[in-house]
Amino acid sequence: MTERLVAIGIVGGGLMGREAASAAARWLHLADLGARPEIVSVCDPNPEVLAWYERLRPAPRLVSDYHELLADDTVEAVYVAVPHYLHEEVYVACLDAGKHLLGEKPFGVDLPANKTINQAIAAHPELLARCSSEFPFFPGGQEVARWIAERRFGRVLEVRSLFLHSSDLDPEKPINWKRQARFNGEYGCMGDLGLHAVHLPFRAGWIPRNVRAVLSDVVPERPDGMGGVSACDTWDNAVLLCEAEDDDHSFPLRIETKRIAPGETNTWVIEVDGTAGSIAYTTKYPKTLRLMAYEPGSTQSWHVLELGSQSAYPTITGSIFEFGFSDGVLQMWAAFIDELAHGRDGMRQPFHCATPEEAAWSHELFTAALESHRTGAVVKMAG
Ligand SMILES: NC(=O)c1ccc[n+]([C@@H]2O[C@H](COP(=O)([O-])OP(=O)(O)OC[C@H]3O[C@@H](n4cnc5c(N)ncnc54)[C@H](O)[C@@H]3O)[C@@H](O)[C@H]2O)c1
Repeated sequence: MTERLVAIGIVGGGLMGREAASAAARWLHLADLGARPEIVSVCDPNPEVLAWYERLRPAPRLVSDYHELLADDTVEAVYVAVPHYLHEEVYVACLDAGKHLLGEKPFGVDLPANKTINQAIAAHPELLARCSSEFPFFPGGQEVARWIAERRFGRVLEVRSLFLHSSDLDPEKPINWKRQARFNGEYGCMGDLGLHAVHLPFRAGWIPRNVRAVLSDVVPERPDGMGGVSACDTWDNAVLLCEAEDDDHSFPLRIETKRIAPGETNTWVIEVDGTAGSIAYTTKYPKTLRLMAYEPGSTQSWHVLELGSQSAYPTITGSIFEFGFSDGVLQMWAAFIDELAHGRDGMRQPFHCATPEEAAWSHELFTAALESHRTGAVVKMAG
């Protein structure tokens, strides 16, 4: 079978840019997909960041101005992983240059930026635009997605989806752009972590009707790394209690994004409780899926399923082994390349990357959450 080569440009070569390049470099880890990415160009204004990419083979073009990357006709799709205040400018430029787009979350620094990006997407229906979100590709996330699609919950009692970090508990941790509103945006931790928490609930169709949010700015300033201090003016923690609906019944949907959740390191927790069944998964114990099926009068007993590396796209890793963050990134990239090469209906498996619509709903939610915190009121959402 001939393999379709998708020439990728990376704009923003930092933490996530390197993850993307690494995923492309170990494509042979996946079973044959009929298509594969090749990183042909990387843009970052920081030469030290670019230097890392000199290790890639074949060697990509390294540029400091993303317009140069976009002017390259050989680049078919662009992955953008830049600070949030640049999303609007760079995503729109990518689409206007005729490039498919995998953009990082939150897909615009705020709601107006997200709307402008979505207008550009609407103006280019010939292009694939998706938002990066890899956690549902963990085997446990895939099990939860399938379980929800099979509606094994009966009536939904409550859904909780949390995304938690803890390194900001240390007040001596130096500041970076993610802790400064002018780069990261007013959403703070919601913009950084929120899509991870809402992706699966939104995919299930559980779009909040309203929200009451409590936001916390725990650490107001941090060392600037140069002997001084800088204002740390982003929300550290966000607790959102929403009302969502399933099958004409409303239920509580609790979304939490926290940079200061003691002891947690990149922990995603999702639990769906229902009258006929409940399911719980956390990346803290990535091999453990907890399930409970219930029939009236029967005993209530949670079962534990030990998951191996059973991924959406088959890999060379035996299912007896474990799955991790970079495996999630590889699986997400497989879904993006699969959809780009074969179309949604021709995908080798059905779970596609987060859509611009899903990202747009997250913006509606986080904007409503800001208002709710400001006013202390429950804020209705349009959706
Ligand atoms: N999916 C995930 O799990 C995940 C994890 C972390 C971050 N992210 C997202 O990825 C994006 C980037 O975050 P990061 O952690 O990689 O940040 P980072 O700071 O490590 O990297 C950002 C890079 O963008 C570069 N940059 C700045 N201005 C630029 C410009 N005009 N053109 C090209 N490059 C430019 C910087 O020099 C830096 O190297 C953000 O949207 C963030 O929310 C996603």
